[in-house]
Amino acid sequence: MAKSETGKVVYGYAARPPVPEVPAPDLPYRPATNVHPAKIALIGAGGIAVQHLTAYAAAGYDVAAICDVRLSAAEELRDRFYPGAAVFDDYRRALDLPAIDVADITTHPDVRHGIIRDALLADKHVLSQKPFTTDLARGEELCRLAEERNRKLAVNHNARWAPNFRYASLLVRGGRVGSVQGVHMNIAWDHSWIKGTPFENIHHCILYDFGIHYFYVGKVFKGLVYLFTGGLFGIGWLIDIARIAVGSFRDSWGYPLVV
Ligand SMILES: NC(=O)c1ccc[n+]([C@@H]2O[C@H](COP(=O)([O-])OP(=O)(O)OC[C@H]3O[C@@H](n4cnc5c(N)ncnc54)[C@H](O)[C@@H]3O)[C@@H](O)[C@H]2O)c1
Repeated sequence: MAKSETGKVVYGYAARPPVPEVPAPDLPYRPATNVHPAKIALIGAGGIAVQHLTAYAAAGYDVAAICDVRLSAAEELRDRFYPGAAVFDDYRRALDLPAIDVADITTHPDVRHGIIRDALLADKHVLSQKPFTTDLARGEELCRLAEERNRKLAVNHNARWAPNFRYASLLVRGGRVGSVQGVHMNIAWDHSWIKGTPFENIHHCILYDFGIHYFYVGKVFKGLVYLFTGGLFGIGWLIDIARIAVGSFRDSWGYPLVV
């Protein structure tokens, strides 16, 4: 029994102790500002490439080449973002340039495997858009190749680094929220934008294209569980981030993931 806000005694109405408010701690959750002087070749001048180039330009990265089988698309992005960049309709010409350090590959996965392979063989570091691969054996082959060539092969799972999740992970990592017992989160994401795009033809597009942000750590089954719970992608995401932050999260190969 407790008194409600109007002073009435109400059954089952718990007394509410005052909740103290504390200012949000100042945590280094934003991207690092030290810009590596690497020269980048962007391969695939489509929709997501605009976001990459916007971010590169804002941070001061050097995009030296833009490639697309549709040369006009590469030219358009060059004119908009990096007027000094070379443009090619054959990405191999960019990979032939010794000055290029990094290939940022933003095509769809059907053609990406071969491009990643060529980039690693040309001794470039690679940033691959997701989904990294549609075939585990081929994906593992690329990982082995990157190791052999001593090149970095990264996948663009940007959601993990989004400021809100990064901030939350730092909170947990710093012990500021105690032991995490459960997390409830809901993400409302309008996917109607895929109408009229190639994404519309992707079978199980949301599962494959959006849910993959979770699947990348190899937790396929867990990803499915998340998908079909009320939290839609949310429940568990933050838990995983929390586990990553405390170092207890491992991918399918048993490697710890750290933030
Ligand atoms: N990480 C994220 O949040 C995020 C967001 C959106 C898209 N994506 C991923 O990025 C990828 C691309 O998506 P998009 O929306 O930019 O697609 P898109 O169709 O707009 O662009 C793909 C581009 O690749 C070009 N291309 C195809 N074959 C090529 C080749 N051999 N050489 C050079 N260019 C070639 C196409 O001409 C096209 O311009 C997809 O895998 C998608 O899942 C990731």
